[in-house]
Amino acid sequence: MKREEKFKVLDAKRVEAALAGGKDKIDKQHEQGKLTARERIDLLVDPGSFHELDTFALHQCDHFGMEKKKILGDGVVTGYGMVNGRTVFVFAQDFTVFGGSLGEAFANKVCKVMDMAMRVGAPMIGLNDSGGARIQEGVASLGGYGEIFFRNTIASGVIPQISAIMGPCAGGAVYSPAITDFVFMVKNTSHMFITGPEVIKAATSEEVTFEDLGGAMTHNKTSGVAHFAAENEQRCIEGIKDLLSYLPANNLEDPPYVTPTDSPGRMDERLFDLIPEDPNKPYNMKDIILSVVDDAKFLEVHQYWAQNILVGFARLNGRVVGIVANQPAVLAGCLDINSSTKGARFVRFCDCFNIPLVTFVDVPGFLPGTAQEYGGIIRNGAKLLFAYCEATVPKLTVITRKAYGGAYDVMCSKHVRADLNFAWPTAEIAVMGPDGAVNIIFRKEIQEAKDGKGAREELVTEYREKFANPYIAAERGYVDDIIEPDETRPRLISGLETMLTKREARPPKKHASIPL
Ligand code: HXC
Repeated sequence: MKREEKFKVLDAKRVEAALAGGKDKIDKQHEQGKLTARERIDLLVDPGSFHELDTFALHQCDHFGMEKKKILGDGVVTGYGMVNGRTVFVFAQDFTVFGGSLGEAFANKVCKVMDMAMRVGAPMIGLNDSGGARIQEGVASLGGYGEIFFRNTIASGVIPQISAIMGPCAGGAVYSPAITDFVFMVKNTSHMFITGPEVIKAATSEEVTFEDLGGAMTHNKTSGVAHFAAENEQRCIEGIKDLLSYLPANNLEDPPYVTPTDSPGRMDERLFDLIPEDPNKPYNMKDIILSVVDDAKFLEVHQYWAQNILVGFARLNGRVVGIVANQPAVLAGCLDINSSTKGARFVRFCDCFNIPLVTFVDVPGFLPGTAQEYGGIIRNGAKLLFAYCEATVPKLTVITRKAYGGAYDVMCSKHVRADLNFAWPTAEIAVMGPDGAVNIIFRKEIQEAKDGKGAREELVTEYREKFANPYIAAERGYVDDIIEPDETRPRLISGLETMLTKREARPPKKHASIPL
């Protein structure tokens, strides 16, 4: 072959690879409101920055006529590029090739970019759209999944791993996204489940649609498997880019600093009126967060699940922080199984990636009830406690109102080694709320009093005056300072900047044994 022809062969192969499963399959993908793997990557990375690897990979399978069906790239596009000038590694499963199903060559490609991402310390982004294990390749595809799961696990806490589900993701295939740090789903076109509607019907006679079983809102609202739900693929990819802007490239780096445009000394007088006079009335904790952080920008994670706790990323004077906050507007902000798990996972992520934690507390305690006890609120509540104790990043806490009982300790109290604990004058830090406390410690007196109701009210008032305030905790140094609500932003910023050089050593161990 002449030299010129050799160049032409390369050109032709590149065109062939780009066409992947062919025009018909690409059209079908578009008709379903889905983009192709390459279109998704184009949206994700900075123009011209993507470099594809293993474009010419082919499977070696010769069962069921597969030897006659070989498609360049084997159903997954892998490589590296930049997102807003920062390196990322990407794999995008290509549904137009054997339904994006995973065989040996496919898995080898994914593993190769995962290994590279680990070697250089850059985030790994997986765009999932696949029929799962390639049936014709049998156990080789199971082996391939296993290799990916192992790498996901080893990379956890070293590089951020983000998964987007942009089509089917079923069976054991779900476990790679499940191990990664964040899962995005696209409404109406993505599904995740271990067993599909047909198997469920055969096994349990239950009838359920794909959407109800494993659609974006099911996993965002009900199961908590997914962290973000996007209206369409474009929004999903914008969401990934936004998330990346808060994350360091790896665990040895700090999260990206952005020159702030919001004044660090800005004070917001509206905060004075936010806590209702009646301590049993709810308010929206998000108003406090938005008022305090830079430019009122808060990237909420797990927005739809366990809404009695809020978690997400924001900046304080340009520096990324992870925010955890009880939400009194939902279930009075109490901690339950799901909110504890949600909070714990977020705290641990932030701790892995050097993201300081800011905790806003208004918690009446743990949710009572047999459903919670039988579901293991003890074991699950322990996760959040454990995560806060473990975390060595700077930890700042603001108690706005209630901090009762065990939940006081859990929510980044001084005792779990928070660095700076502030309380508003409206804070109530005690073993329990006045009503419950009086019912227990003065039961006899109330029963014996002529005017039981009046006596009770008097005792509640006395208890409230005595205990439902931040001063007793401040006397003991459990609270470092009591601040006016409008001072919250400047005090958090100066506190954060002071604590950035914090050093905290822990005894060496292989790893902790978190109560799972
Ligand atoms: C091989 C597959 C495939 C698979 C789809 N295809 N899934 N080929 N292995 N797992 C092929 C189809 O044969 C078809 O090829 C093409 O991809 C497109 O599939 P369609 O069925 O035409 O597409 P659609 O109607 O959109 O349905 C998509 C689907 C369906 C819902 C994903 O294909 C499906 O149910 N696939 C099987 C899913 C599954 O059971 N996978 C195994 C899960 S268990 P042609 O040539 O006709 O275009 C698993 C274990 C992982 O994954 C274990 C890890 C430890």
